Amino acid sequence: MHKFFFTFLLLAIGGNAAAQADVEKGRYLAAAGDCVACHTATNGRPFIGGRPFHTPFGTLYSTNITPDKKTGIGNYTLEDFTAAMRRGEGAHGNLYPAMPYTSYYLIPDEDIASLYTYFMQLPAVEYSAPGNDLFFPANLRFGLKFWNWIFFDKASLSQPEGKSPEWQRGNYLVNGLGHCGECHTPRNFAFAVKSDEKLAGNILEGWDAVDIRSASLHRQGWDKEQLRLLFTTGASERGTAFGEMFSVVKHSLSHLSESDIDAIITYLLDDSAESSENVAGNVGNPQVAAEQHTQGRADFVAYCAGCHGREGRGVTLSFAPPMDRSAAVRGDSPYNTIAVILRGLPAQRMDRTNARAGMPSFHLELDDTRVAGLVNFMRTAWGGAEEPVTPQEVEKIRRQLREEDYLGAAE
Ligand code: HEC
Ligand code: HEC
Ligand code: HEC
Repeated sequence: MHKFFFTFLLLAIGGNAAAQADVEKGRYLAAAGDCVACHTATNGRPFIGGRPFHTPFGTLYSTNITPDKKTGIGNYTLEDFTAAMRRGEGAHGNLYPAMPYTSYYLIPDEDIASLYTYFMQLPAVEYSAPGNDLFFPANLRFGLKFWNWIFFDKASLSQPEGKSPEWQRGNYLVNGLGHCGECHTPRNFAFAVKSDEKLAGNILEGWDAVDIRSASLHRQGWDKEQLRLLFTTGASERGTAFGEMFSVVKHSLSHLSESDIDAIITYLLDDSAESSENVAGNVGNPQVAAEQHTQGRADFVAYCAGCHGREGRGVTLSFAPPMDRSAAVRGDSPYNTIAVILRGLPAQRMDRTNARAGMPSFHLELDDTRVAGLVNFMRTAWGGAEEPVTPQEVEKIRRQLREEDYLGAAE
């Protein structure tokens, strides 16, 4: 009798611990998949949705994924949840591919189940996102069936032979659960990611979600240690995470285990012979730069040196990143360097102890010719692409940023 009772008690405790472990696993997967970034409005409660997505076809809103029966996913069975995650089939029709089911279809069954367990035990919140404001024919959900038919490539993840288990895990995290390509891969006219240009870079909300293919990362001088710093703290000697990438680090990457971060880095750097040939690259020449770009040098000293140092060496990472090792400066595309100068960067807080003061915008002080001169000075001094930036290029970026409302009202 007693023996029976104790067995029962142990089973109950054991079952509870297993359930708790499943919730914890689901919480981890939700962080790795960064559900909160999209399913939360600015300053809103986590997971209740209402975040707007501006697409070429109008605006749509993420939905409430707390288990509220009326406004959330409270009536979803595990099968319904799986259909939404894997096939983009929601309870009220096909989902728009702003929900990254085109990456999440790679999530294995048992992980989908843990995510389901996690979301179902969250407090239910009653909230409905604003109605979508999409143009015809994008406002008709059944059109998405055709979209899926043409553009949703359900190929299983190709895991080439000869790669380590760590690389393969990274491949899955980057292309599946972590859905890095949803931002870093260019899209076609129908807003579908171009599968033949995976991770090749894409302009997104006025920032360049840069090319993160291994050759490009090596050329910019990224290594294991600097990527680890970027992904865990948001700041490294090669650059800081800003724009949407800040949120990716804050809500997702900085919560991952050391081994998952290592796996992502192993996959991204892909230390094969061909990519490491690109390591050396152009390191620049400050002397030549000062002679060739006198106005650019003068503007750097006047406007930038106070924070980034006269010689571009930066101060401390928590204050301002160095320019003489900057991946943005060294990148093939000058887009982010130009956009940062024009827009500035807002103060940001990663967590209680890690915050950055931000950078002022210079779109009023510096005209297109001066910005081009400044960028050319920096690229010549610290190792950017040789092709000079023209005032016309700056003008084009400035116009686009102004049209999309990223330069503030004054001008
Ligand atoms: C890149 C943005 C983005 C991310 C990341 C994202 N979602 Fe979504 N999700 C959306 C949008 C937008 C919708 C609404 C789509 C629509 O209305 O057609 C949506 C809809 C859903 C739905 C359907 C809900 C309903 O109303 O029927 C579920 C379930 C869901 N998401 C779960 C998740 C989970 C779980 C994660 C994390 C693993 C996640 N989402 C990550 C953007 C995102
Ligand atoms: C008040 C201090 C301050 C001044 C002045 C300043 N910056 Fe910055 N800059 C920062 C900080 C801080 C960051 C990182 C902010 C972040 O990521 O949140 C940054 C980031 C950058 C970046 C992005 C690099 C990366 O990947 O993080 C570039 C490029 C840059 N600054 C160039 C310039 C140029 C050019 C000027 C002069 C026109 C300038 N900055 C003036 C503080 C400053
Ligand atoms: C929601 C959009 C979004 C997602 C998802 C995203 N990124 Fe980014 N990422 C950006 C943007 C925008 C930038 C450019 C700003 C910057 O440099 O921080 C960027 C920059 C980067 C950089 C260069 C940072 C620098 O300072 O030069 C790396 C490396 C990177 N991302 C890796 C990743 C990885 C790995 C993932 C998936 C785990 C990922 N990103 C997912 C938007 C995104």
